[in-house]
Amino acid sequence: MRTIHITASTNYDVLIGTGLIDKSGELTAKVVKPCRCMIVADDTVDELYGDRVQISFSYAGFDARRFAFPAGEASKNLDTLGDILTAMGEAGLSRSDLVVALGGGVTGDMAGFAAAIYARGIRFVQVPTTLLAAVDSSVGGKTAVDMPFGKNMVGAFHQPSLVVTDTDVLRDLPAEQLSNGAAEAVKCGVLNDPELFALLETGDWQGRVDEVVARCVTYKRDVVARDEFDTGERALLNLGHTFGHAIEVCSNLTVLHGQAVGAGTLMAAAYAGCPEAMLRRVSDCLKANGLPTRFPYPAPALARAALSDKKRAGGVITLVLPLEIGRCELQKLPVDQLPACFEKALNVLEALDL
Ligand SMILES: NC(=O)c1ccc[n+]([C@@H]2O[C@H](COP(=O)([O-])OP(=O)(O)OC[C@H]3O[C@@H](n4cnc5c(N)ncnc54)[C@H](O)[C@@H]3O)[C@@H](O)[C@H]2O)c1
Ligand SMILES: [Zn+2]
Repeated sequence: MRTIHITASTNYDVLIGTGLIDKSGELTAKVVKPCRCMIVADDTVDELYGDRVQISFSYAGFDARRFAFPAGEASKNLDTLGDILTAMGEAGLSRSDLVVALGGGVTGDMAGFAAAIYARGIRFVQVPTTLLAAVDSSVGGKTAVDMPFGKNMVGAFHQPSLVVTDTDVLRDLPAEQLSNGAAEAVKCGVLNDPELFALLETGDWQGRVDEVVARCVTYKRDVVARDEFDTGERALLNLGHTFGHAIEVCSNLTVLHGQAVGAGTLMAAAYAGCPEAMLRRVSDCLKANGLPTRFPYPAPALARAALSDKKRAGGVITLVLPLEIGRCELQKLPVDQLPACFEKALNVLEALDL
């Protein structure tokens, strides 16, 4: 088992290893005195792992209750949040009790937010079951729900007390979900870690998923330690997200987040003027991980969609631009230049047939 220690407003460990889901209660008991807990999961994950996690927490001395909601991003809203809070209240959770977020990023974000606001804030533990949650959303303390006026627009910074990542669970993920998470790992490689990128380029890293998760978490840890509340450097983690978000919006959210972020990372590199050899590497790496490299949306539609991005501030958007594999920089761009920016990125990719 690997342990990565996170230092933020709350210090906590991220545990990565095989067979951890059946030890999640025991591992939690080492940092949270057994108490009443609400295990929150979507109905798919509840069906797959709910019993095992509940047994583990009960065995470790917790009074473990469960709440399940319908799987999918469409559930990540105030209604479901209200249902979770009501279930917690009806189960009699007090300020000293615990939420266990068992699932992907949707569950982690929403159960984490419920923990952040219930009784003005109680502790929570993340048990990520998607690769995306393991490499990205379970660490760093961003919690939220989606609103009609934008994704993740209402939320709080609330760090978990522990993250327990079972790599056996990740290996059992459907291929599409594995690709979805791999995109965030590719992003991490382009941002900071050429060795991680090289491993992902092989497309044959499933046997080393613990290393992939650990490398991503370590990088995120370092960024979060320096900029927990996202006022500067943490913006780097948005590589591929301005372009990707535009793709997601144009597709009416039918394109998965990771698929969009992967293609968005390639667009960012194209816009940044990266050499052809590097663009080909990024494109091939996406393909090796079952990810699309391009979507058929034209630049003006993408630019319009990007303007609904909350990262827009005062008529200026912050782009993350790759310089080489493992190094990126932030660049401010006036929003009126976005259509030209998308145009340039698409033209470069078109010319290279990527
Ligand atoms: N807080 C952050 O820092 C952060 C970072 C990145 C993404 N996010 C958020 O994460 C969310 C996306 O996360 P996601 O992709 O994990 O989505 P998700 O939680 O909806 O999970 C995707 C699908 O996989 C299923 N699933 C989960 N675990 C499974 C398993 N082990 N086996 C089989 N199926 C399984 C789920 O039921 C769901 O249908 C978005 O809402 C995004 O905003 C948050
Ligand atoms: Zn993302």
